[in-house]
Amino acid sequence: MMKLWGTRFSQSQSELLELFNASIDFDKTLYKQDIKGSKAHAKGLFKIGILTKEELDSITAGLERVQKEIEEGKFVFKLSHEDIHMSIETRLTELIGEVGKKLHTARSRNDQVALDFSLYCNEENAYLQNLILELITTLTNLASLHTTTLMPGMTHLQHAQPISFGFHLMAWVASLKKDYLRFKSAKERNDECPLGSAALAGSVYGNDRDFVAKELGYTRASMNAMESVSSRDFALDLSYAIATLMMHISRMAEELILWSSYEFKFVSFSDEYSTGSSIMPQKKNPDVAELLRGKSGRTFGNLMALLTVLKGLPLAYNKDMQEDKEGVFDSVATAKISLLILKASLETLSIHKENMLAMCQKGHLNATDLADFLVKEHAIAFRDAHHIVGRCVLKAESLGLDLSQIDLHELKDLLPKDVDFKVLKKTLDLNSCMERRDTLGGTASSQTLSQIEEIKQWLKQTLNS
Ligand code: ARG
Repeated sequence: MMKLWGTRFSQSQSELLELFNASIDFDKTLYKQDIKGSKAHAKGLFKIGILTKEELDSITAGLERVQKEIEEGKFVFKLSHEDIHMSIETRLTELIGEVGKKLHTARSRNDQVALDFSLYCNEENAYLQNLILELITTLTNLASLHTTTLMPGMTHLQHAQPISFGFHLMAWVASLKKDYLRFKSAKERNDECPLGSAALAGSVYGNDRDFVAKELGYTRASMNAMESVSSRDFALDLSYAIATLMMHISRMAEELILWSSYEFKFVSFSDEYSTGSSIMPQKKNPDVAELLRGKSGRTFGNLMALLTVLKGLPLAYNKDMQEDKEGVFDSVATAKISLLILKASLETLSIHKENMLAMCQKGHLNATDLADFLVKEHAIAFRDAHHIVGRCVLKAESLGLDLSQIDLHELKDLLPKDVDFKVLKKTLDLNSCMERRDTLGGTASSQTLSQIEEIKQWLKQTLNS
């Protein structure tokens, strides 16, 4: 079969090259965007007098028939048609005859593929933004039930200071809000239409690029034709936003894995979102969280692969760029299912408050508060207070007790003579320690509640905009 571009060739293509060169196996994912782009292009051609109204109507109807064939599984994808662009154009001409051959006036596959892929990235970006907002909603609702649920806050994975479970969840939400904004800004930055850039230099037909851009839902046409067919910034931005999101998700997943272990038992996954072992009958494994942690890796790889494909390429289009798609498709699919399953498993998670509380009684979570008490009530310099508390911790450990459990009179010799033990006892109460951090962004339940309120307001505004 003769290629659409085949006239200047006297020998037919080797089968091996056909196999090597074709992208149809994966770029058929872009059929909808390709058809949408072709319809807008045809309208543009009509606007500048290249197509008559009948020709436009015939092409539009033909493209709709092609779409239907694809969606009904009747379309035959052939390796010999190389890619989705030539597959659709070939079939269109088979269906509507000669007029189909006019569609490729004033465009090239170079601006066509840039358009299809940019449309795909922007559409998937919008979908992922919604999924992120849904996950944020789930987490914020869960957090609002746990603003006073004490749990040990950690640094270096060692007990540090008491926090609430709700406060911890709102830390995740803060990351996810930044992720959302990263997706949003990626979409805004790449809100420009490549179509009409043609091969690299624009066209001689006077295309109304702004008209076509608006038809396709962009706010503007790209500035420079050569940059526009050479750039995959829209795909890089999306890949980076996904990689960062997945990095955040992997950290949440890691905490869920730790928390669901016997050593912590802060949470349990529902049976619906847990798996078993083929040999150990008792096992209930957090595979969901482990896969979430693991899947982040491929999205980092996809980002790196795309950067590497593009590195050092001269302008404009180079066939290397055909390698741009599969990794992005993979990252998008990975992010989608990850966001969905994380949300679903959080909605069915059991929270074991009593175990969180019990673990707060280990690791002297109130030690900093004792030092702060000495600073505030006894005018001791913080560094000296730190030394005094260090000695108190040693003493408590020698008695096999936690600072939250010890009878404070045991520490009498280490503390100032005039210590008021009643006040001190209240000061060291774990709940008071958590509530005392009442600075903006701190652990106090009022602060967590105001974070929750802020996010709820923001969600409302964002969902209405
Ligand atoms: N299949 C190609 C790709 O995915 C389409 C663009 C081809 N352009 C060209 N001049 N060969 O990048």
